[in-house]
Amino acid sequence: MPKKILVTGGTGYIGSHTVVELIENGYETVIIDDLSNSSIDVLYNIEKITGVKPAFEQFDIVQKDKLRGFFKKHTNIEAIIHFAAKKAVGESMEQPLLYYRNNLVSLMNILEAMQEFNVANLVFSSSSTVYGEPDKLPVTEESPVKEAASPYGNTKRISEEMIRDTLRNLPDLKAISLRYFNPIGAHPSALIGELPLGVPANLVPYITQTAAGIREKLTINGNDYNTPDGTCIRDYINVVDLAKAHVVAIERMMKNKGKNNYEAFNIGTGSGLSVMEIVNTFEKVNNLKLNYNIGPRRPGDVVAVYADTSYANSELGWKAEKTTEETLRSAWLWEKKVRGMV
Ligand code: NAD
Ligand code: WQD
Repeated sequence: MPKKILVTGGTGYIGSHTVVELIENGYETVIIDDLSNSSIDVLYNIEKITGVKPAFEQFDIVQKDKLRGFFKKHTNIEAIIHFAAKKAVGESMEQPLLYYRNNLVSLMNILEAMQEFNVANLVFSSSSTVYGEPDKLPVTEESPVKEAASPYGNTKRISEEMIRDTLRNLPDLKAISLRYFNPIGAHPSALIGELPLGVPANLVPYITQTAAGIREKLTINGNDYNTPDGTCIRDYINVVDLAKAHVVAIERMMKNKGKNNYEAFNIGTGSGLSVMEIVNTFEKVNNLKLNYNIGPRRPGDVVAVYADTSYANSELGWKAEKTTEETLRSAWLWEKKVRGMV
């Protein structure tokens, strides 16, 4: 009997790639998603990739009665991977309470449901944003967690504290926070990928939409930082590598391999790349010229942040494998597919 995993936010960018990896590793999956930032079509594309259409329920996890009804219907869930959240930094500045309610109340409901319905394992989608502007690089799991620059980032910091404080009194429950750095790229099939609604805030989808002619040009947010080429540095991780980390995390908990019942891991490549390096690599591997200019710095931008992944490599036994070149090729192929250019 395959083990059953609940994936909240599973029709989203990272969730959909994780559902594919779970199915390909023999797990049964069930998705909860309110489709506030994704499309039901993702289910059919997951089926095209894996041959399996995941079970799906559409509702807002902030609605606790709906979540309880779900668990009364779906018994024997071995683990929950909780992706469901709002994640737009800019929107969170304009509507902080929307973010605190959506991201924190949904997690509270998940934590209470775990206790009521005896679900022992949780993987939580955290973010490198919890480190703020790091004092030292690369960032380890021991690096200080800081006051985030946005309400969105704060919801990740507070969420980790909620999980830690809840599990302190519940030794039979286990949780792992995966602190993602900058996920980019798409599944090699180009059947699933990142599909930001409206104008993309993130670098790579803005690049691919510029290359597709949807955006007139990319504006690079400042090149006067104290970095080799003056542009900001990030740790860009392939979304399929990231998805694989979630399978490893639930297996660690189900096999009771954890050092204690709450752990956090940095999930990145361990290398930093500048905005300019991403742009140049994108142009080179896709054999095209990108229209871009240099604009002013973006308020709140961290100059440089990239992971020390040695703990995830040694303890989780997980390591990012895909190259930046392969990842940026996948991002462009996905964009062309979505726009009907191929
Ligand atoms: P996404 O928006 O593509 O996926 C999130 C999914 O959750 C969407 O399908 C949305 O419809 C759903 N959702 C949101 N609120 C919900 C609710 N209350 N009830 C039910 N469904 C709900 O985002 P993503 O990039 O796949 O991110 C997934 C998780 O990873 C999020 O928690 C995000 O904060 C975190 N994260 C993302 C990044 C990134 O750069 N993409 C980096 C670090 C962490
Ligand atoms: C990367 C670099 C930009 C767009 C954000 C969230 C973080 C996480 C990942 C959710 C920066 C520059 C970007 C553009 C540019 N999300 N850039 N022109 O800011 O590192 O992280 O996404 O958890 O919480 O903060 O990613 O892709 O927005 O920016 O020059 O059109 O690219 O200024 O230096 P970021 P990003």
